[in-house]
Amino acid sequence: MLMNTFFKTQILADAHETACQLAKELIHYFKDQISQRKNIYIALSGGTTPQILFSIISSEYSGAIDWSRLHFFWVDERCVPPSSDESNFGIADRLLFSRIDIPRENLHPIHGDNDPVKEADRYAGEILAHVPVNDRYPVFDVILLGMGNDGHTASIFPGQNDLFNTSSICAVSLHPLTGQKRITLTGNVINNASNVMFLITGNSKAQLLKSILGNSFESGNYPAQQINQSNGQLFWYLDKEAAALL
Ligand code: 6PG
Repeated sequence: MLMNTFFKTQILADAHETACQLAKELIHYFKDQISQRKNIYIALSGGTTPQILFSIISSEYSGAIDWSRLHFFWVDERCVPPSSDESNFGIADRLLFSRIDIPRENLHPIHGDNDPVKEADRYAGEILAHVPVNDRYPVFDVILLGMGNDGHTASIFPGQNDLFNTSSICAVSLHPLTGQKRITLTGNVINNASNVMFLITGNSKAQLLKSILGNSFESGNYPAQQINQSNGQLFWYLDKEAAALL
């Protein structure tokens, strides 16, 4: 595995500075990969944390690269229509993709308004039709993850660690509190990626990060603790509030 020097685990002053640094490093990496005439395959998470990252990229870097070499997928999606303000694709489209010159065919959203079981199957097929495969699973160049206050990541929630063992590429999961259906990449796909970065900010994540990354390491079963690529690199982009107890 080629260790790349584009990314680095780091703690920055606040959510904006953390997102700015990650945006800068992502664009640098994309430029390098494009210069090697390679298409780049990225899977984005949703939630609130990455929204600042999407806004920074669209406002600061819209003209920085040839977006036609990048293909964007989603780590997970809520089973809602793209017009919903809960839609991970809808949010990213409104904040980023509608503001940069990227061919629409380079966007590969999960169709949240389709039948979930059929959509998980369809989406897996779309991934396999585009993303290179190694060791039976697609290899994303970059996967951006967040972490919920319960230690979930993607839409793999506590108690659903079987989604780290399945050979399926995608799965239907349920939010444990709301019962909302989700479609998610499975653990083996995430752990097959070349670069995975957690973007985690805010004091609400501090206690959990202490459990997951701190000296008081609990050998817990949080899904966010199961991210450990065999052939890739894992990075943490944290602000001071989230890292306060480390
Ligand atoms: C989602 C995300 C999910 C998210 C965490 C953190 O669909 O909600 O993919 O995994 O990354 O829930 O969400 P916040 O950034 O809103 O805290």
